[in-house]
Amino acid sequence: MSQPLDLAAIATHSTRGSLKDAWQARLERWYAHPGLYRWSLGNPLTRWLTRRRTRQLFDLMAGFVHSQVLLSCVRLDLFRVLHHAPATLSELARRLGLAPEVLQRLLLSAVALGLLEHRSQGRFGLGSLGVPLAQHEGIAQMIEHNHLLYQDMQDPLQFLRNAWSGGMAEYWPYAHAQTEPQVTLPNEASAPSEKFERYSQLMAASQGFVVQEIVSSYYFGDHRCVLDVGAGKGRFVSELAAHAPHLEFQMFDLPPVLTLARENLQAHGLVDRVTLCPGSFLHDPLPQGADLITLVRVAHDHPDAVVQQILQKAHAALPVGGVLLLAEPMAQPEDEAGQAGASVDAYFHFYLLAMGAGRLRTPHELQKMMEQAGFTHVETLPNAMPIHARILLGRKSQCLPLESKNSVNLI
Ligand SMILES: C[S@@+](CC[C@H](N)C(=O)[O-])C[C@H]1O[C@@H](n2cnc3c(N)ncnc32)[C@H](O)[C@@H]1O
Repeated sequence: MSQPLDLAAIATHSTRGSLKDAWQARLERWYAHPGLYRWSLGNPLTRWLTRRRTRQLFDLMAGFVHSQVLLSCVRLDLFRVLHHAPATLSELARRLGLAPEVLQRLLLSAVALGLLEHRSQGRFGLGSLGVPLAQHEGIAQMIEHNHLLYQDMQDPLQFLRNAWSGGMAEYWPYAHAQTEPQVTLPNEASAPSEKFERYSQLMAASQGFVVQEIVSSYYFGDHRCVLDVGAGKGRFVSELAAHAPHLEFQMFDLPPVLTLARENLQAHGLVDRVTLCPGSFLHDPLPQGADLITLVRVAHDHPDAVVQQILQKAHAALPVGGVLLLAEPMAQPEDEAGQAGASVDAYFHFYLLAMGAGRLRTPHELQKMMEQAGFTHVETLPNAMPIHARILLGRKSQCLPLESKNSVNLI
């Protein structure tokens, strides 16, 4: 393991802890009691609880099969085909060139998972979970992309010993630039290399849901100019430009990525409203002039020292009164423990481990880092779908005494 990894700060409750420990130990003894399972199933008041736990455990065991069913449907383009019109097994078997006996197993599995459903006259149609897959290309692309992660994790213990030597680390060219000096990021706006094009395309395709969360949660009317840091091909900027026609924009990203972005902005007729600022936040200061800086799905890709550096540079680039908006998937906060959604964390912990540099942080951890960079009034902006992203806001209330030195590299 050559990459230094940051540790998450896990909250410990010293006084309440001993009571909680005792309660947890008692529960564990109950769960382990050989008679509990039978007793609980025999009791109409507790049966549902035991059934639910057994089902949850079964689903954990079967998760690989579930995701392979999903991937098969995506690769066969089943969701789009059935969105067009429901079809029978024999129609689908002919069309897809698969034996009906085999295809039927896939279709029945997809029905069981809610992706498809039975329709009249023996036809199959889309289930409620299949509909978004037919409509949003970005979801299908992420499902296909996850295959890289699952290949890396095929031998999970080997993966834990040697996490970022697989396909996912290879996929993200910048993830290793901060710790491995031999990995250099292109510093000229040369033709975008295939790797930059590949991930930028995936990010643009999958950013729609995040953009929707931000645009529907934050009021942009008080701002004049937005600097999007790690802007990618500019999907967020393009959609925000349509949402808030008074805004001007700056986009900061690595040179090959902004070469791709230029084509996208031209296609959207936005060239006059957007200034492209190629650079690396590892080495360059952020451009001045914006009164709102956005960091969308950027911090979680980087180690703590780099994130702290980006936040300090954002603080230095903003005028007094300026705002930083940070949006990305975050670990479930402690005060939401027990609520649905925590399993999403497991995915991101492993995804970011395979990628090689960043980590999933709680809103609290990011909040502290923002405060350390000088931001005040740091708060969580409530949004409807935290699975896509949670949103933090911080304000620059004053210049820091050493702000002029913020461009000094911390790594
Ligand atoms: C995970 S992508 C997110 C892109 C976009 N904000 C989105 O949500 O789709 C992270 C972005 O940060 C950019 N990036 C990574 N390292 C960078 C660096 N050192 N300087 C500037 N941008 C960087 C990448 O090129 C990429 O576009």
